[in-house]
Amino acid sequence: MSEPQSEQGMDTSSLEAAAETNGVPLDPIGRLFFLGVVVVGGVFGAPPREELDRIVSSLAGSGCYRDVRYAFMEQGNPALPAVLEECMAAGARRVLIVPALVPMDRTLRWWLPLAIRDWVRENVADDTMEVMLAPPLGDSEHLGEAVSAAVANAHGCVEIREDPNITDRERSWNLIPAHRHQVFLCHGPRCTLANAPKTWAYFQEKLRGNKLQGKQGVMTVRTGCLYPCDLGPIMVVHPDGTWYGGVDEAAVDRIVAEHLVDGEAVPEYACVPGAPARSRPGSEGS
Ligand code: FES
Repeated sequence: MSEPQSEQGMDTSSLEAAAETNGVPLDPIGRLFFLGVVVVGGVFGAPPREELDRIVSSLAGSGCYRDVRYAFMEQGNPALPAVLEECMAAGARRVLIVPALVPMDRTLRWWLPLAIRDWVRENVADDTMEVMLAPPLGDSEHLGEAVSAAVANAHGCVEIREDPNITDRERSWNLIPAHRHQVFLCHGPRCTLANAPKTWAYFQEKLRGNKLQGKQGVMTVRTGCLYPCDLGPIMVVHPDGTWYGGVDEAAVDRIVAEHLVDGEAVPEYACVPGAPARSRPGSEGS
């Protein structure tokens, strides 16, 4: 990659000064043009947006980076592929991805570099954008200091039964809503990279459009990895026990119309448990 003199006409002198003040390693090619992306994974329930916003604003406040964003590897939005696409569209020259996962799952440690490399190979034309992966947050020698700071902040804590910040909430989680189908859509890391969040948003839209939500309709759940990752995004429809692979918007159109409305599974996208698929369902050659 040739050395950029400026990015999108921006004045780089203030970034250069900030980089030197903050002790950013002097990398003549990249130091001024990093676009840091913070990655987090394993989010079940509400994503930790406040924590991520704090990390992002701390990095952005250093003044060393053109832009700092966060992305999710699973469950949350925005998903990593979407944020990488945004970086590319914004003309980023270099992207540094920081896995903000503590602890870093062993499988993810092996798989994340492979997945990001494959995404770059498929989506980035030579010399337009460089992508680098930093060591996971949990590998930092400063992690112990962060825990020590949390311990130091704990001196004002009260005994848990007397904590006024813990409020009871109405308990309504003892009722299973009436429904015809329950649909699981995998949002594990590999399905997320295969655009599961986009599929999810489109699926919800189709359910609303077909009035399939609510009583006698469809209960939907985003899940972690359901196992056959190479066939993702994976969808499972119960009580029928039908597995679908390669679920994109075209597949959603058919599954909603033919399966959830008319009650007939869609064979082109269905996967049979125990029978290996030759390729991703719905793709050519399947
Ligand atoms: S990540 Fe979806 S099946 Fe593994």
